[in-house]
Amino acid sequence: MSTINYSEKIPNNVNLDEDRTLKRALEQWQPNFLSWWDDMGPEGSTGNDVYLRTAVSVDPQGWAQFGHVKMRDYRWGIFLNPGDADREIHFGDHLGEKAWQDVPGEYRANLRRIIVTQGDTEPASVEQQRHLGLTAPSMYDLRNLYQINVEEGRHLWAMVYLLHKHFGRDGREEGEALLERRSGQQDNPRILQAFNEPTPDWLSFFMFTYFTDRDGKFQLCALAESSFDPLARTTKFMLTEEAHHMFVGESGVSRVINRTCQVMNELKTDDVKKLREAGVIDLPTLQRYLNFHFSVTIDLFGADESSNAATFYSTGLKGRFEEGKRVDDHQLRGQTYRVLQAKDGQLVEKEVPMLNALNEVLRDDYIKDSVAGVERWNKVIEKAGIPFRLKTPHKAFHRNIGALAGVKVSPEGQVVSEAEWAARHNEWLPSTADRAFVQSLMGRVTDAGKFANWIAPPVMGINRQPVDFEYIRFA
Ligand SMILES: [Fe+2]
Ligand SMILES: [Fe+2]
Repeated sequence: MSTINYSEKIPNNVNLDEDRTLKRALEQWQPNFLSWWDDMGPEGSTGNDVYLRTAVSVDPQGWAQFGHVKMRDYRWGIFLNPGDADREIHFGDHLGEKAWQDVPGEYRANLRRIIVTQGDTEPASVEQQRHLGLTAPSMYDLRNLYQINVEEGRHLWAMVYLLHKHFGRDGREEGEALLERRSGQQDNPRILQAFNEPTPDWLSFFMFTYFTDRDGKFQLCALAESSFDPLARTTKFMLTEEAHHMFVGESGVSRVINRTCQVMNELKTDDVKKLREAGVIDLPTLQRYLNFHFSVTIDLFGADESSNAATFYSTGLKGRFEEGKRVDDHQLRGQTYRVLQAKDGQLVEKEVPMLNALNEVLRDDYIKDSVAGVERWNKVIEKAGIPFRLKTPHKAFHRNIGALAGVKVSPEGQVVSEAEWAARHNEWLPSTADRAFVQSLMGRVTDAGKFANWIAPPVMGINRQPVDFEYIRFA
């Protein structure tokens, strides 16, 4: 079951051979996917042999497959974690019933919407990142970008499989639409706003993979609890890939900090102008990038009060983060949760039914998790003996969704006037000048073992290879 059949046109561990109609539908989608990849995949990558990992089974050991391949020949396919025939629904109104192997008719529309929304983010991030290869700070980093891109492509496959298998004609149409929307395009944009923002430089890329791929982790964890068993099993496997994406973000930002601190100590200065002249990214600019990516990402969890969130939970479609580890009744009726709102120029807490606040619950779990990595970044600064700390902004800062959307709030959590916001937002969010400066540092470095001046080399290479290993053989 867990071994992947690679002799097939579409590698899979779901016995695709047994379902001719499904197989044919997916084989028709496959060339469309490849032509999307040719159009929207990483620019200038065709022909390169890239040291990629490919899943050969869904066991942890199955990840040990590394080798140089052309990205277009990457074995995109369909892999589900092994199923448990006796699995029971463990939250919501259907608690204790058998998990569903098929979509219940009454939940079809909602499940389809959930799968399409998740599926849409996968190709979107590839589109957002497609120009980054032209300005990679090293061969090592370029390889990591490519690895993430092929895996996001595979995540799209995972969602399209569910759509094709369980949603008939509608599902096939959604599969096509997933290849037609384009990140940032006016007339046919991606569904969620953060996935229409450009990823213009590598600092943005590292922040994105740290913060926004972590949103992916939390959404996938919530879906991994789903009563719809195929969705639970496919998202569990996707999570093993997501861990690497967040690693790229966390270690990437950490290396930027490391290099900046090194130059700060060499020049014995924290003067932004001098540091910029020395070609490194000053810590206040890093803080502004962090503020931006954090705030845009926490919007992805949706409105703080949401009847959809309540429905998704009660009907068993989407659980909470680590639902199985929580000790409560897993139905949450009559329970409450505190959400924030602005009242008379102040942020105040308001108690609402917990079921309606489940977006906020997931957002708060996410915030806890992302703060931990920021503390690891602070260790790097501390170790260099520099008195500066990075901080995640207040959760009401720079919000565009939910009750906090209309209010202007400082990173410290003070409600501010429009005038103060206008006067100070350049201290809090990357300014045009910040972005232009970061952009000016981006130049392509591709000799094995060489790194751009603004980023430190990694501590280790990929798969125990040396840092100066030839991760990419350029065409
Ligand atoms: Fe993904
Ligand atoms: Fe990801």
